[in-house]
Amino acid sequence: MASPYPARLQHFAVEVSDTDRSIAFYRQVLGFKLTERHAAHDHPDIPVELSFLRLGETHHDLVLVHNPAKTYRPKPIRPEDDTDGPPMFHHYALECASRDDWQAMLERVRAAGVPIVRGPVLHSFADPRGDGSWGENEAVYILDPDGHRIEIFCDLATIDPDGTHRNASGARVAGTRTEEL
Ligand SMILES: [Fe+2]
Repeated sequence: MASPYPARLQHFAVEVSDTDRSIAFYRQVLGFKLTERHAAHDHPDIPVELSFLRLGETHHDLVLVHNPAKTYRPKPIRPEDDTDGPPMFHHYALECASRDDWQAMLERVRAAGVPIVRGPVLHSFADPRGDGSWGENEAVYILDPDGHRIEIFCDLATIDPDGTHRNASGARVAGTRTEEL
């Protein structure tokens, strides 16, 4: 039956102060491919630079937006230090297909000298290795060249119809529940 709701959250569009620098970062560190890139005013209704990047076969997972008319100022390293201004996004997340892939990604990030601002951490109040926080996944947080916080994660739990979490191995996690049932 047709659903009246979207199926999933998909691409994310983020402002960047230097398109070349950000494309290089997303390609070299995170493995994105550039699908297409447009200068400001390439389309009469679009006065900003737009770059579409993808991780897999979907046309784009990420859009880099640069407004040549805007004076960009630095972003605080910690989102909680941004105490004045319009609501901003806190972070966005990229999922690795497996823990091995996540570990390889972590090594890659370290080798590239990219700032790690949190983690690695296991978000879990149920797993004995967990940090007691919520989410049920393993993660590390890095910054892109503009200070945008990116979570790189693996093994995010799923939720059964009764609200019980199921971990990445498929096992139901006793004592877990969702807030909305
Ligand atoms: Fe997150």
